[in-house]
Amino acid sequence: MKEPTKRIAIYPGTFDPITNGHLDIVRRASELFDEVIVALARNSQKSPVFSEPERLELVIRAIAEACPECTNIRADAFQGLLVDYAQTRGARAIVRGLRALSDFEYEFQMALMNRKLAEGITTVFLMPNERYTYLNSTIVRELARNGKDVGDFVPRAVSEALRDKFEPKFH
Ligand code: COA
Repeated sequence: MKEPTKRIAIYPGTFDPITNGHLDIVRRASELFDEVIVALARNSQKSPVFSEPERLELVIRAIAEACPECTNIRADAFQGLLVDYAQTRGARAIVRGLRALSDFEYEFQMALMNRKLAEGITTVFLMPNERYTYLNSTIVRELARNGKDVGDFVPRAVSEALRDKFEPKFH
């Protein structure tokens, strides 16, 4: 009998830095797919505060901290178009989080464009726990930059990295 195809999903983002909201989505995806690849975009339109190796390391440490039992989650970085990367990894799904109506327009446009580019790859939207609906990486960075504790919003590895990044400003 033919082996069933492994269901691989890509969860892409800038992750500057990864937050508990992202991790909530990753955990949900790991229950639905055989393998989830958290894929950090190298050529993000944004100008990240954390370098690519720093963001990748934080993604790896955050997953290990938040979900040690999730053995089907990997972390990687990619360049170029997301659908091309998804194809090289044999993924049939792209996972994105939908937090509020305000996310919809951008996500809708991106999902349809990705489908136009690669018909065989489907975007799947997951809703994070409602306690993360107001969270994004910009807010977390802003709080940390101003010396506030972000321990409720990010895993320990990330709050420590944020402290190291911004603390010198307070000396
Ligand atoms: N919890 C908390 N925050 C969340 C979240 C969740 N569940 N889901 C998204 N966010 C936040 C992020 O922190 C981020 O906040 P910020 O803007 O303050 O940094 C924002 O929502 C969205 O960012 P993210 O999910 O990281 O995605 P992105 O928009 O930065 O990344 C890519 C978009 C990388 C997926 C997209 O640009 C891409 O695919 N690039 C590759 C090139 C390509 O293929 N382009 C064609 C696309 S059609």
